[in-house]
Amino acid sequence: MTYIAHKNNRLMIEGVDIANLAATIPTPFYIYSSATMRARFQSLKAAVNHPRVKIFFAVKANSNIAVLSVLGKEGANMDIVSSGEMKRALAAGIPGSRMVFSGVGKTDDEIAFALQNDIYQINAESLPELDAINRVAVRLNVKAPIALRVNPDVDAKTHAKISTGKDENKFGISWDHVEEAVRKVASLPNLTFMGLSAHIGSQITNTQPFVNSAARMEEMVARLRGAGHTIQRISLGGGLGIPYRGETIPLADFGKLVHAFAEKMQCDVELEPGRFLVGEAGVLITKVIYVKKTNSKQFLIVDGAMNDLIRPTLYEAYHPIGKVIEADTKATPQTYDIVGPICETGDFLAQDRPLAPCQEGDLIAIFMAGAYGATMSSMYNSRSLIGEVLVNGNQTAIIRKPLTIEQQLLWETIPTF
Ligand code: LLP
Repeated sequence: MTYIAHKNNRLMIEGVDIANLAATIPTPFYIYSSATMRARFQSLKAAVNHPRVKIFFAVKANSNIAVLSVLGKEGANMDIVSSGEMKRALAAGIPGSRMVFSGVGKTDDEIAFALQNDIYQINAESLPELDAINRVAVRLNVKAPIALRVNPDVDAKTHAKISTGKDENKFGISWDHVEEAVRKVASLPNLTFMGLSAHIGSQITNTQPFVNSAARMEEMVARLRGAGHTIQRISLGGGLGIPYRGETIPLADFGKLVHAFAEKMQCDVELEPGRFLVGEAGVLITKVIYVKKTNSKQFLIVDGAMNDLIRPTLYEAYHPIGKVIEADTKATPQTYDIVGPICETGDFLAQDRPLAPCQEGDLIAIFMAGAYGATMSSMYNSRSLIGEVLVNGNQTAIIRKPLTIEQQLLWETIPTF
C-alpha cells in the first residue's frame, strides 16, 4: 500500500491533494504521511516478530515532535543523541524510560539530564565517557544503565560519510578494548552493565553487513559471558535502507536475522532504525521560480535549496523527483538540473533528470525526503527553516510553522562597543 502517489495526474498524500494544499501555504515545505510511518513501523515489527526485540526510533532522522508522537503512540521507543532530542521526545509524551542515549560526545549536563529523566540506557562510546557517566551518577546518587557501543570493524559498504562500523571511524569502543571497558563498567560503583550495542552505518540495502555485525557481536557476547559477565541487552543499531533508486530492501531477511539473533542470544535485542521508519513518508514540495537554459544545460531554479535538503550536496544522494501535477500530454521529457537559489555550485537537488516540460510556477516533489531532510536544514543565505505539514487521512496539520527572517533577527544583537 502506498500512501503517496499520483491519482488522475495529481500528487496525493493519503487523502490530500498537494497542489490544492500548496495554493494555501508557502513553498517550499516538507509534508509527511503519518500512515506511511505507522505502516513502516508495523512492517518492521512484523518482520522481526519477536517479543524480546525493542525498536528505538533514531530521532536524528526526523525530530519534529508530531512525528515523534505518531511513532511513540505506535509503540516506538526513542534513540536520542543529545539533550535537545531528549527534550523533543519528552515533549512528544515519550518518557526517558523508553529512550536510549547514543552519541560520541555526551556532556556532563546531558548525562545528568538523561539520568534525572530516568533514561532506559546510555550507550557509552569510550573509556573516558564511562568516568564521566559514573561521576555524574555519583553526584545524583543513581545507577546508570550502560551498554557499551562497540566498533565491530565491519564494512557497511555504504557511502563513506555514513559508514560508522570500521575501526578507523570515530564511533564505538575498539574491538580490542571491549573487555577492558566491561571490566571498567563493573568496577565503577554507579554504573550497571546491561550489554553491548553496535551501529555500522546507514542506507544499507543488503543483509550481509548486518550478518557480519551480528556474528561479531555473538563472538564478543560469548567471550564476555565466558568471563562471567551478564549480557541482558544487545543493540544491532539502525541502518536499514530505503529504495531511493528502486532498490529491493531485504526487510524479510533482515527480520529473520534479528529474530534468529534474539533466539540465539537469549536476551533483549534492540534496533535503532531512523531512515527506514520515516524516509519514504516525507516529500519536499518546491516551486519553479525560473526555467533557465544555458548552452549545455537546462536548469529548473526552484525555491527549495541545499539548506532545506542537503543530502544531494553532501552525499551525492539521489532522491526521486516528479511534478506535483503531471501534465497529461505526450510532450517529450526534458533533462533538467534542479537547483536552488543559493550561491554555490553544490546547491542542487537533482542533476540530469528527465521530467515532463516545466514552466515557472510548477510544483516539484522531491520524494523520500522524510529522513535527514528537515533535521539537517540550515539558514544559509539567510533563508529560514521551512514549514512542515503532517497528513492523516484527509486531514492536514502544520506541525512546524516556517521561521521568519524577523525571528532570526530577534536572536541576534549588535553590541554597543
Ligand atoms: N543508531 C546510531 C548510533 C546512529 O548513528 C544512526 C545514524 C542510527 C541509529 C540511525 O540510522 P538509520 O537507521 O537512519 O540509517 N545524514 C545521513 C545519515 C546519517 C546517519 C547517522 N547515524 C543521511 O542523510 O544519509
